[in-house]
Amino acid sequence: MTKAEQLQSVAVLVPGHFNDHAVERIDRTFDRVRIERADPALVTHEMRQNVRAIASFAGIDAAMMDALPNLELIASFGVGYDSVDVGHAATKNIMVTNTPDVLTDEVADTAIGLLINTIRDLPRAENWLRDGSWARKGNYPLSRLTLRGRRVGIFGMGRIGQAIARRLQAFGLPVAYHNRRPVDGLDYQYHQTLKGLAEAVDTLISVAPGGASTEKAVNAEILAALGANGVFVNIGRGSTVDEAALAAALGDGTIAAAGLDVFADEPNVPKALLDAPNTSLLPHVGSASEHTRRAMADLCVDNLVSWFTERRPLTPVPETANVKARG
Ligand code: NAP
Ligand code: 8YV
Repeated sequence: MTKAEQLQSVAVLVPGHFNDHAVERIDRTFDRVRIERADPALVTHEMRQNVRAIASFAGIDAAMMDALPNLELIASFGVGYDSVDVGHAATKNIMVTNTPDVLTDEVADTAIGLLINTIRDLPRAENWLRDGSWARKGNYPLSRLTLRGRRVGIFGMGRIGQAIARRLQAFGLPVAYHNRRPVDGLDYQYHQTLKGLAEAVDTLISVAPGGASTEKAVNAEILAALGANGVFVNIGRGSTVDEAALAAALGDGTIAAAGLDVFADEPNVPKALLDAPNTSLLPHVGSASEHTRRAMADLCVDNLVSWFTERRPLTPVPETANVKARG
């Protein structure tokens, strides 16, 4: 059997809606098995016997892994993998891969766009033009906030955080950051605590991953530390923010404005954030260009191909980096 013929016999489960380019490549290369959603109740006897990999946008929990005893690899679409139970995968000798780097610049660009929209109120200014207010009422009011003179803190100075920081340097703005550990060789000021960072800056950009260690890390105390001129931007994960505390802080002037691309319960956005006059909101579009989604799709599928030909992944998540291929 040729390598191509061998791959044709590998059953790859694709739950629900998936990226078109990835689906096309999986169809060409593997035996694609469809399922409405990643739900163990929908796993048939045949899937249980045959499925060796999952390619997914969606979260994969322990029960789904347990329902597929021959599962070797979960190729997750996206760099964030908080919705995959990687701890369970590691104990079951299941490899998990993600799609880092290929989306870094796109997400950093989006973060900068969202920051400027939030501070200079550009989406509302465009609506003013489109709804005829410019002609009827005159100039759009001056923006209360400016990027000039701001000090920016980055929560999660990883690949995307550093790409955002490089862009901010070009804007002439000082940057500081908080991670659990300082990044070797990085010149920006490091803060050991998120509160220390929030106290030192007036603009906080979160690009930290989701998961237990960051759950509601941006809370009332952090927002109070950011202060009345404070701007909060979240391009990381909605779960890292206490959204009720954020809505309260925006409402009572504890901070000045917020720009959000991610929410705790997507696609549901709290009404208080929708109604607030000082929010700029995006529907999780950080990486959402055709160019970048295609690159993510290619990396997702390349991981499947590499695993089933070379028996090694291209971009394993750290938690499963030691998982070895079976057989
Ligand atoms: P990365 O390179 O792994 O960076 C993550 C950074 O967060 C690391 O520097 C890490 O440093 C820090 N971190 C992790 N846990 C932390 C904690 N508990 N406290 C403080 N810092 C913590 O990942 P990336 O490629 O930059 O992606 C970052 C995240 O962006 C993804 O996980 C995803 O959730 C989000 N994202 C969103 C979009 C979007 O469309 N909005 C698109 C892509 C990615 P330490 O390990 O030293 O703490
Ligand atoms: C995608 C993301 O929207 O990569 C991530 O972590 O949040 C985004 O790039 C998502 O992965 C698509 O499902």
